[in-house]
Amino acid sequence: MGELVVDKHVKYILSVEKRKDSFESVVLEHLRMNGAYWGLTTLDLLGKLGALDSNEVIQWIMKCQHESGGFAGNIGHDPHLLYTLSAVQVLALFDKLNVLDADKVANYISGLQNEDGSFSGDEWGEVDTRFSYLAICCLSILHRLDKMNVEKAVNYIASCKNVDGGFGCTPGGESHAGQIFCCVGALAITGSLHHVDKDLLGWWLCERQVKSGGLNGRPEKLPDVCYSWWVLSSLIMIDRVHWIDKDKLVKFILNCQDTENGGISDRPEDAVDVFHTYFGVAGSLMAFYSLLFHCKHFLKATRATHSTLNS
Ligand code: FPP
Ligand code: ZN
Repeated sequence: MGELVVDKHVKYILSVEKRKDSFESVVLEHLRMNGAYWGLTTLDLLGKLGALDSNEVIQWIMKCQHESGGFAGNIGHDPHLLYTLSAVQVLALFDKLNVLDADKVANYISGLQNEDGSFSGDEWGEVDTRFSYLAICCLSILHRLDKMNVEKAVNYIASCKNVDGGFGCTPGGESHAGQIFCCVGALAITGSLHHVDKDLLGWWLCERQVKSGGLNGRPEKLPDVCYSWWVLSSLIMIDRVHWIDKDKLVKFILNCQDTENGGISDRPEDAVDVFHTYFGVAGSLMAFYSLLFHCKHFLKATRATHSTLNS
């Protein structure tokens, strides 16, 4: 099996930041806050966060904040819950949450909760369980969950559960691994995982693994490296990650690397991007560490059995 070309991925992430006028950067300009989060988290996972000037990043983040308290994807764009969470996550990554007026950000977020407990992503009102996750995760990082109605938010997410154990974007919406990550994540943060049928959902999630070892987001779809994150982290949250063949998954992810110039793509031979580089790095590390984790538990369990037998 190949290996994760760590130094090349670090170089790739740093080069994307420098190429601000490239096609990729222009197309993704409004998403820059989100890209910054995924890119910086990748550097952090690879132990290279210090390669960037954190003050420069923090100053830019604060220029993206609106009077409402929410953050935009870039300077001069409109605020949205997605960029607000990314901004807060990057500040947390640099241990700089103190530069924020947490109540102001929290008021923006709680103002987007609807009567039925759901969340809109911004002032335009689209409703989706992704936005419930973004709001709950962000308020939790800011220690301001008390600013929203958690009970109503949890009940709304539970109303998006399907008979296959998965979750969709609104009640009755098709189960999709990305939405499942959001719903299970939000339920985990709020201590409400009793709403999840772990065996049923675990079965649906582990069926996402296809022959090549990669994971897809729903039945009959192509595998994509990003589902390594959405599916694996959901499985970890419901204690069913050992139902996946991790060696095969890691092999699929490694095959999606650009071993010459760094970066990871959605599937072999496609163009690399920052998002899939994060999902690939995090996915392979998660698969590896959870293996170690299970190994540790196995050793502990066998040791316990051993000492019981010998006592
Ligand atoms: C493609 O759907 C969509 C994705 C690959 C992203 C899915 C992720 C989420 C919904 C979670 C987002 C999370 C946050 C925190 C905002 P598709 O129908 O084009 O792809 P498919 O063919 O793989 O189903
Ligand atoms: Zn993808």
